[in-house]
Amino acid sequence: MSNEIKTIGVLTSGGDAPGMNAAIRAVVREAICKGKKVKGIKRGYAGLLQEEIIDMDAHSVSDIISRGGTILQTARCYEFVEPEYQKEAADICRKHGIDGLVVIGGDGSFKGAQKLAANGINTIGLPGTIDLDIACTEYTIGFDTAVNTAMDAIDKVRDTSTSHERCSIIEVMGRGAGYIALWCGIANGAEDVLLPERYDYDEQKLVNHIIEGRKKGKQHHIIINAEGIGHSLSMAKRIEAATGIETRATILGHMQRGGSPTCKDRVYASTMGALAVDLLCEGKTNRVVGYDHGEFIDFDIDEALAMNKDVNEYQVRICKDLGNS
Ligand code: ADP
Ligand code: F6P
Repeated sequence: MSNEIKTIGVLTSGGDAPGMNAAIRAVVREAICKGKKVKGIKRGYAGLLQEEIIDMDAHSVSDIISRGGTILQTARCYEFVEPEYQKEAADICRKHGIDGLVVIGGDGSFKGAQKLAANGINTIGLPGTIDLDIACTEYTIGFDTAVNTAMDAIDKVRDTSTSHERCSIIEVMGRGAGYIALWCGIANGAEDVLLPERYDYDEQKLVNHIIEGRKKGKQHHIIINAEGIGHSLSMAKRIEAATGIETRATILGHMQRGGSPTCKDRVYASTMGALAVDLLCEGKTNRVVGYDHGEFIDFDIDEALAMNKDVNEYQVRICKDLGNS
């Protein structure tokens, strides 16, 4: 019996990210170019277990490259950690003739992909998350758009903060990771950045810093707080009471996950989507695609999941130095 892949499935899982549509489009079109059939699985692993599976052709992905979100929808499916559901999902793939699967999502989704590969479905993961928290890759689909959205929003908050001579705490997403916070810290020239990876929260130090800045004539004080630290609203109340300076908290929230993807997210997601299909056609499975030192490469999922990642220490230092005149 030939082991050649005939039908490729694609799904998105976990939090959506701008650029996921570009990746789906690339999977569909590259697969069709290589003579494969393509099936779209709706709502991640939840939809797979419900057999929400649709046929896709080149036209199904027309006019989506510029759209945020994911046309396949996404979900979190908590029962998928159970081996019985993983086996059932692999059986459903076989029933629908899906012999190769592309999973677009974060670390959690990769664990699901790893289990499907162990149950006999050739599976490739693509890093899709705004959080940039996947260790094997310097790039994740959606981060570039999200961090630009956050940067623009913080510029706007800063305008009003300066006019009112206020202190502003702006909370950005990232789950347990501080990449969006750190990048915005540098890009927006924030006076303070609070990162979960460098948790040394000392409110008195922060208060002293705000007062010192005011004495030097600073008209605003921007604090970027990572979601992993949180508590921005109560922090604002305490800081206002301690400094006597009006302090407001803004939680940017889900607006960071939406919007039209940047050029980088469209191009990288397209490249990764096509590469996933090429890897499946080469007979590879249990792999994830990453971007490292200018190259798109693939890793064994088990190895990728065992890797650790940290924010760049040099950038943490310069973020502090450059934000304070
Ligand atoms: P992300 O993929 O962005 O990290 P989650 O951590 O929410 O997002 O994971 C997305 C989905 O991946 C989960 O809802 C679940 O269906 C699946 N998943 C997460 N962890 C595991 C696991 N250990 N085994 C199997 N599937 C998992
Ligand atoms: O992983 C992406 C992300 O947006 C995180 O930054 C955030 O912690 C989480 O998802 C929010 O999830 P939900 O959409 O379920 O509120």
